[in-house]
Amino acid sequence: MAGRIPKPFIDEIILRTDIVDVIDTRVPLKKAGKDYKACCPFHEEKTPSFTVSPDKQFYHCFGCGAHGTAIGFLMEYERMSFQEAVEDLARRAGLTVPYEGGAAPAAEQGTDLLDVSREAARYYRAQLRDHPQAVRAVEYLKERGVTGEIAKEFELGFAPDGWDNLLRALGKDEAAREMLARAGLAVKKEGGGYYDRFRNRIMFPIHDYRGRIVGFGGRVLGKEEPKYLNSPETPLFHKGRELYGLFRARDAIKREGRALVVEGYMDVVALTQYGVDNAVATLGTATTRDHLERLFRYTPEVVFCFDGDRAGREAAWRALETALPALHDGRQASFLFLPEGEDPDTLVRKEGREAFLARLATATALPDFLFGTLVKQVDLGRMDGRARLVELARPLLSKLPHGVLHQMMLERLGELSQVNSEKLATLVVIPDAAAPARQEPRSTAGPKEPPSVARLAIAMLLQQPELAAKVPDEGVFADLDLPGMALFRAILQLLKTIPNLNTAAIIEHFRDTEHQAHLEKLAVWRHPALEHDVGAEFAGVIEQFRRVSAKVRTEQLLQKQRFDGLTSDEKAELAHLLSKKRRLDDFSSKT
Ligand code: UTP
Ligand code: MN
Repeated sequence: MAGRIPKPFIDEIILRTDIVDVIDTRVPLKKAGKDYKACCPFHEEKTPSFTVSPDKQFYHCFGCGAHGTAIGFLMEYERMSFQEAVEDLARRAGLTVPYEGGAAPAAEQGTDLLDVSREAARYYRAQLRDHPQAVRAVEYLKERGVTGEIAKEFELGFAPDGWDNLLRALGKDEAAREMLARAGLAVKKEGGGYYDRFRNRIMFPIHDYRGRIVGFGGRVLGKEEPKYLNSPETPLFHKGRELYGLFRARDAIKREGRALVVEGYMDVVALTQYGVDNAVATLGTATTRDHLERLFRYTPEVVFCFDGDRAGREAAWRALETALPALHDGRQASFLFLPEGEDPDTLVRKEGREAFLARLATATALPDFLFGTLVKQVDLGRMDGRARLVELARPLLSKLPHGVLHQMMLERLGELSQVNSEKLATLVVIPDAAAPARQEPRSTAGPKEPPSVARLAIAMLLQQPELAAKVPDEGVFADLDLPGMALFRAILQLLKTIPNLNTAAIIEHFRDTEHQAHLEKLAVWRHPALEHDVGAEFAGVIEQFRRVSAKVRTEQLLQKQRFDGLTSDEKAELAHLLSKKRRLDDFSSKT
């Protein structure tokens, strides 16, 4: 294990860093009041709801709920590990990270999962060129019509047969082998030791949208099973998020104003070879909402390409259901059905680019696919058939966000069912979540239950750490056993010890604890008590704590007095508490 990074160093990094600079170089920010804004880099949007607070040193998106510190931003946006993010910020600040127990071992200093994946891709590529066994792989690719040029462009490689080729090349020591396993490239054996995951396969590196290799797909050369083996889910690789070919296709997608979603690695490779370079593939999974949002960042139109067989139509229907809630702001989805037994790879090789593009131009628009499919299931010549159509369409249309498309689909349903579309509108109720009146921002909504006093107090301290100075040092309500009090005390204690921490630095102290997520929410929580004259509100809360605390303590002492008797110190304390209580009672009866 690498030495840990001492907490005080994290504090220093956070204090020396300006999150505005860190984000601005990657996502240009505009000043808006005391904060900065931009369109959120983590979801598709047209009006900026991504907000960076220089005071809190915290970013937050009111649209999708993404949030975090400068460290968190680098981890999320650049996919850095915690340690890499700290290293990066330290470099900017001209500091050297002091690892507890000496320097971090080499395996963790720089060679992280991304490095390992890149190294592995280089290794596989070299094997395709040089390994004696690769002759068969090259032959296979040639047979399928893949040119050397395109193989190079997609960085195709070859994993030779055998259990430890990659391990011998890159797994120099235990730490390196462990890293290969974490990257999904080696598998850890139950009894100890490792073996190569990918053996005797053509290797397709999978890049994330920023061009970094995060996973692999490996194809057998013959008929063995499974035909394709993919990287398992790793910290870097999530099938439901990545799209094969997106990085190389994204400029073409922007240029064409359209993205083509196909099913296979080879489809993307073949299409690109034939000059259709706006294609991406899902990785052996159904299209997810994440996939779509990622594509809609680059273009308003997505065309799904499926087999014409039943499985293809079913897959298309699933894609339709996933796409519906994403279709706002002029976005479009269409469906291209290919002749049975063909996929884009075979078709483009057979028919050529122009014929394929001509097919693409005939893709079915989502509304037509939707109504076309439903109409086939009912008899529009009968009243109860038309009623059934309304029933079938209802759950689907209610997935659509409010907007022109929704309105037009309602009208279309009206025509088909011969029901007045205003009446239909009352039947097809759109849940609030999809309403354009901006979804209830996920993470500012704050806790559902009425806010407990402790929770408010924590949010106040978190949002304005300088308030801690207003709490007297003696006895920080040690007897108060309200929910949340322990965390409040912990933060207060932290700020008493290190008075200049900002919001982000406090949160970093709780990274990887059960409290992290909760604190991140409270850091951006909007509550009236957190908006105006927070100083006075906070004083009120503290006073309340003090009173309750005194009451609890008084009762404890009275109890003890009755059964065990009190020490002289305790007697003095009780007398003090009671006289104070009388003063307060007098005071409140006079006002
Ligand atoms: P297909 O079976 O349609 O294969 O799987 P393909 O892409 O046409 O493959 P070729 O042309 O025979 O080489 C489509 C996609 O489903 C995933 C892969 O991502 C593949 O590209 N898949 C398929 C797997 O993950 N594992 C499998 O065993 C098969
Ligand atoms: Mn194929």
